Amino acid sequence: MNVISTHIGQPVSRIDGVAKVTGQAKYAAEPHPPGMLYGVVVNSPIARGRIETIHDAEARQIPGVIEIMTHLNRPHAALFEKSYMDGLGVPGAPYRPLHDGEIHFNGQPVAVVFAETFEAAREAAMLVRVDYERWPHNANFEVALHQKYMPSKTRSNYVPPKPRGDAAAAYALSAVKTEGRYHLAPEHHNPMEMHATTVIVEDDGTFTVWDKTQGPQAVQAYLASALSLSKDQVRVRNPYVGGAFGSGLRAVYNVFLATLAAKMLKRAVRVTLTRPQMFTHAFRPEAVMDIALGASRDGTLQSMIVKGVTDTSRFEHNMENIVIWGLINYRCPNATADYKVAPRDTYTSSDMRAPGAATGVNLLEMAIDEMAYACGMDPLAFRLHNYSDIDAMHDMPLTSKALREAMVQGAQHFGWHDRTMAPGSMRDGRERIGWGMATGIWDAMFSPTSARARLGRDGWLHIATAASDIGTGTYTILAQTAAEAFGMPLDRIDIELGDSTLPECPTEGGSWTAASAGAAVWLACNSLRARLFTALAGIGNAPPWVKQGDMTLSGGALHGVNGNDADCLSLTDALSLLGLDRLEAEETAKPGLRGKISQMRKARFTHSAVFCEVRVDHDLGTIRVTRLVNAVAAGRIMNPKTAASQIRGAMVMATGMALHEESLMDERVGRFMNHNFAEYHIPAHADIPDMDVLFVNEHDDEVSPLGVKGIGEIGMCGTAAAIANAIFHATGRRYRNLPIMPGA
Ligand code: MOS
Repeated sequence: MNVISTHIGQPVSRIDGVAKVTGQAKYAAEPHPPGMLYGVVVNSPIARGRIETIHDAEARQIPGVIEIMTHLNRPHAALFEKSYMDGLGVPGAPYRPLHDGEIHFNGQPVAVVFAETFEAAREAAMLVRVDYERWPHNANFEVALHQKYMPSKTRSNYVPPKPRGDAAAAYALSAVKTEGRYHLAPEHHNPMEMHATTVIVEDDGTFTVWDKTQGPQAVQAYLASALSLSKDQVRVRNPYVGGAFGSGLRAVYNVFLATLAAKMLKRAVRVTLTRPQMFTHAFRPEAVMDIALGASRDGTLQSMIVKGVTDTSRFEHNMENIVIWGLINYRCPNATADYKVAPRDTYTSSDMRAPGAATGVNLLEMAIDEMAYACGMDPLAFRLHNYSDIDAMHDMPLTSKALREAMVQGAQHFGWHDRTMAPGSMRDGRERIGWGMATGIWDAMFSPTSARARLGRDGWLHIATAASDIGTGTYTILAQTAAEAFGMPLDRIDIELGDSTLPECPTEGGSWTAASAGAAVWLACNSLRARLFTALAGIGNAPPWVKQGDMTLSGGALHGVNGNDADCLSLTDALSLLGLDRLEAEETAKPGLRGKISQMRKARFTHSAVFCEVRVDHDLGTIRVTRLVNAVAAGRIMNPKTAASQIRGAMVMATGMALHEESLMDERVGRFMNHNFAEYHIPAHADIPDMDVLFVNEHDDEVSPLGVKGIGEIGMCGTAAAIANAIFHATGRRYRNLPIMPGA
């Protein structure tokens, strides 16, 4: 689509910013319906076994306690596992909360106390005692690796690609070889807002469920199916979400338990997880990658052998794409990849910001840096030398790839050419300075999405779609899109999101929302405009320039195109002429909207080049990330302000991946032990004093209807590797385990 840019592409501040900072934006744990009960979850302290007896008499003595719900007294819920399948479609047997007395993971809910006050519920929850029969479990990753397997049922895109050439033979013949085992610790999402649900029982007995989720319609479908309700008995709302990073892609147990309890008690309930309970569900899997690279002396990659394993639970097969990224992104005649999952007695690992790529791209880009040094080549020059203009894994052309430009412009901005090659050669007093770089790649996805545009007699344009803004800026970019498409000032546009009753929109994730919901809003606005023009043409008493359709929509009014300033009609007057209170249009954007054939025959990715400066204290071993530059090629940038904010946030998160974040398992009990912010360390913006984001010009009218690729996840991909590579440059030591800590 040819989009002129009055609004799209402008650095507009968040339109929901004021509501957020003044507390008017309501999150899942904030509605306070009359008579609401507080639910506190009691979690299993063992990883595997069976509940023998639940002693709740003492807990029931606490004043204000109304009910203690367990598998023994819960109301009916669906029996079969398939009824608990959620939108993410993880193969295996989904966990069914309070289904029976069997324990599958440490932290599994075994009871929920409901009381008139939160304090009473919490006190009673501490008094619930449960006897367990303990069964042997394994929470050790190394042990799990011996049981690794490829699930028989999986989505085809998780099956390792067909090999190209003969990687083993080419490796054997390569003049320069590097080989290593790389490791990433498990991480937890830890958004600011905890998972929480408030359920309101409406007068007609239906449930309005305020839930912290990335997909209100997915949660609605899950609840309807798991609780044997019809879809119109459950409305799920999430107008504001305080971060999620993937932890809200699946229905979390709090939403099931709260809705089940509302059904049981016929009262409003709220169930909020504590920060430690945030470590009892989804997490980024622990991963190992064995990477062997072969090159000729001139630095030409000849062979890539990438084998990866991530952990999953005993009951579900969670998979990620960790091994494919280098095979896609580098020209290399011989390449092969293998991928398996390793089961542990924990909850199922899950998607966390750039799932698969955050792990696989970063670990591979660390290996690429090793190879560049083994060839005696500058790491940037090495990557440019082995650049692929196509998706080398599928031998498919790309809709666009401005990675070369990103590398060149990022290097220029960073000052990369002043770098001296030898590790430890750049110093400032006690500090060794390291400059490292890496590239990033992530999917540019698109999902069918519907949106509604409605013109009201108030002269406002009302946009609605069931998208979720998880803090990314979706409200703002959709308002910009609508403003552009309908010729409307931004302050007369109202965006409604986060409600399962709105036009269908997939769960927010995969960086597809801007491209997908943006296209839907664009189409709906264009359709509304056409509908308005057509309707006006049929009105007898409309001015002639209106009847003849010689008009445009701009500034929120209709104007004649023939230069007569008097030819102007407000949208309110237009609706009056039509005798209507409102006019609306709903449209669905589909991937085949434009260039259907070429879309199917071309691969689509977002790319980036990240440059990093670290300072390592030579005596203490402490590491500071002092400078990051990320040059991103992501197609059309809807809003450089919110987009840069996404990239900066991801770079901070990736700094956590490189240096701090690590969920530590106590294998004796199978529990992640550092389940609080005192012990699970995450960096903040202030830890990285200098961060710059550049957006490389990338025109791509095939990737999605608006030429948008999405920017929510690309900032994770490459940044951790750039930091690790900078640490090598500072110290001369290779660290192949993330996070890299003093004393490692
Ligand atoms: Mo993202 S892990 O697709 O929420």
